[in-house]
Amino acid sequence: MIPIGKTYFDEDDFKAVVEPLKSGWVLQGKYVKEFEDVFSSFTDVKNSVAVSSGSTALQLVLSTYGLKEGDEVILPSFTWIATANAIEYTGAKPVFVDIDLSTYNIDVNKIENAITERTKGIIPVHLFGLCADMDAINSIAKKHNLFVVEDAACALGSYYKGRHCGSFGDYGCFSFHPRKSITTGEGGMITTNDAAKSDLCRSLRNHGASDKKALPFLLSDYDNLGYNFRMTDIQGALGVSQMKKINFLLDERKKAAALYDKHLSKIEWLNLPAAGKDYTHSYQSYVCMFMPEEINEKNVEKISSKRNEFMMMLEREGAATRQGTHSVAHQQYYKKKYCLENSDCFNSKAAEMCTIAFPVYPGISENEIISVATIAEKYKP
Ligand SMILES: Cc1ncc(COP(=O)(O)O)c(C=O)c1O
Repeated sequence: MIPIGKTYFDEDDFKAVVEPLKSGWVLQGKYVKEFEDVFSSFTDVKNSVAVSSGSTALQLVLSTYGLKEGDEVILPSFTWIATANAIEYTGAKPVFVDIDLSTYNIDVNKIENAITERTKGIIPVHLFGLCADMDAINSIAKKHNLFVVEDAACALGSYYKGRHCGSFGDYGCFSFHPRKSITTGEGGMITTNDAAKSDLCRSLRNHGASDKKALPFLLSDYDNLGYNFRMTDIQGALGVSQMKKINFLLDERKKAAALYDKHLSKIEWLNLPAAGKDYTHSYQSYVCMFMPEEINEKNVEKISSKRNEFMMMLEREGAATRQGTHSVAHQQYYKKKYCLENSDCFNSKAAEMCTIAFPVYPGISENEIISVATIAEKYKP
């Protein structure tokens, strides 16, 4: 079976995770600090703050805005549910905007229609490793005085106009879940160019502790309502070790994507992922649209059931696939609470129902990709 993803660990990673164990210091410590420094230098962002996951990165950052019931925050509907949950925890309302099917990212032409006097911010998502249109988003945000938090969970190694994702907004939030460019098991990173913001994040990840202490043996003062969102030094050490081979890990994904481009291009009913000239795609996932015909509200169910049949065939014949991600506006919690219809954010619903992520991971061979493509070619929609 060719899996959908595979972690890549080598002897250096094995050695790295043992170091904190040998030292006896396993909580947030010197390796977390080193991981943050290496991350800042790779992404060219002034400050990085490691946390326990991409979800807690978003939750922590959103908590800094003092949002409350009645406030609104804009996000794309086609994303992982954690993006919306981070808004929901604050009491503010997530306002879902549809995506552009050619990028799977927020449709920047639909953002201004969603802005009201209650809108406080925008969370663009760089889905599957392709940066959102940050020039357009930042200019809308500036015009309406909105914060911008980049959900860069999938975007380590992704660039727009030569700048790394996570450096465009007020904050960037990364994930180190095992299907991402590097992994620490669970883990996340907040990036920001603003030193005061990073100080606040450091405090909030550690229960709101300040660095003020009257005497070394006394506890800190607690200035903020914080959380325990700390990363362990075991994860930090693994993060440092994974970052040492980041260029190799990213190249492997790009190589795999180029091979899929080559071997799947014969299948005219699959829309392959494409990146414009200003974008460096990191291919956290290689996601295609199953599209034997133009998709509309009338035929989407029929096309989706063929998509599922196709994925079932791939599964039976030895290749794991997944739907790209889900349309959060159509998940029952959000659909019911905000009275949303299937016709709202239709592109997101169509993407949920008709996308296919193919196996991508460091070490996947051309033969494996050819065998996925050979199975795929047999299907007649
Ligand atoms: C777009 C997006 N946002 C947020 C997250 C949450 O990250 P984590 O799984 O590290 O909590 C993910 C994880 O898959 C994601 O894909």
